[in-house]
Amino acid sequence: PNRQDAIRTLRYGAQAIAAAADVIRAGGLVAVPTETVYGLAADATNAEAVARIYAAKGRPSFNPLIVHVASVDEAKAIAEFDAGATTLADAFWPGPLTLVLPLRANAPVASLVTAGLDTVAIRCPAHPAMRDLIAATGRPLAAPSANPSGGISPTRAEHVAAGFRSGPSIIIDAGPTEAGLESSIVAPGPPPRLLRPGPVTAEQIATVLGAVPGAGGGKIEAPGQLASHYAPSKPLRLNATERRAGEWLIGFGDVSGDDTLSASGDMVEAAARLFDALHRADAGDAAAIAIAPVPDSGIGVAINDRLQRAAAPRP
Ligand code: TXA
Ligand code: MG
Repeated sequence: PNRQDAIRTLRYGAQAIAAAADVIRAGGLVAVPTETVYGLAADATNAEAVARIYAAKGRPSFNPLIVHVASVDEAKAIAEFDAGATTLADAFWPGPLTLVLPLRANAPVASLVTAGLDTVAIRCPAHPAMRDLIAATGRPLAAPSANPSGGISPTRAEHVAAGFRSGPSIIIDAGPTEAGLESSIVAPGPPPRLLRPGPVTAEQIATVLGAVPGAGGGKIEAPGQLASHYAPSKPLRLNATERRAGEWLIGFGDVSGDDTLSASGDMVEAAARLFDALHRADAGDAAAIAIAPVPDSGIGVAINDRLQRAAAPRP
């Protein structure tokens, strides 16, 4: 069809899942919540459907996607699991952990998903909406965050709707996401490497693997790892303890602002609110955004990773 139908937002439930599954099976796109952020999902076995994700996001085709499955068994049909990968999956799935593993030779995944790499990023999400959609379609689903490439990730259906004039046929609305930051990405190794910090912390991974994961590095390890990403349209100043003229200040703990990530200094609450606070600051009247410092431990490592990239000089 030449005409782009309006994007429909449907409240999460059986009817929404049935309608969304029809869209996926026909090769279309659906925005769906996970426990981390909203994803822009397509049938990972359908190359044209996957191509629509790249087109809708304006995403460079060298930046591979995450494949979402409902169980470890489904993951094992796509990726090769060694002992370390199995240990991590047993410990953290379903949940906000993505594993980068060797792609199986006969994996039922379009090569565009992995951008032609011989590895695949795969995760088993916990959110019932994403799990229902995988089950209803019977397909592995490729899903990046449901935002235009390089922009702030969506933690609410409204963020998705504001980001796209076309692309997803349906947005499934299940309210704000729980974690608020994208999954941790780990290459199990040995030696294990944490390619993107996230809700599953390096400490938690070390406890399970018996080895502290190293930082990224290596070949692709890719544009979520680019200097500028998660970027608001306005300049962002980090480590702010007071508001300067023209700024909208996002507070944390003792630093109170126009908005706050967590007045009590709760880091999990701060992670869940970060992208929503950035979206609202970006949509408001102030010319620039400032944000208070957040401790660089636990989930704070992932918060600061996103903030560094959000504040970096834009390409
Ligand atoms: O929480 C999440 O992971 C969300 C939800 C929707 O599941 N998805 C998400 O996808 O954050 P995306 O596309 O925004 O980020 C995927 C990251 C990118 O940085 C990409 O470069 C990296 O995963 N990636 C994908 N395949 C890879 C591979 N084979 N090797 C290394 N990095 C890979
Ligand atoms: Mg993203």
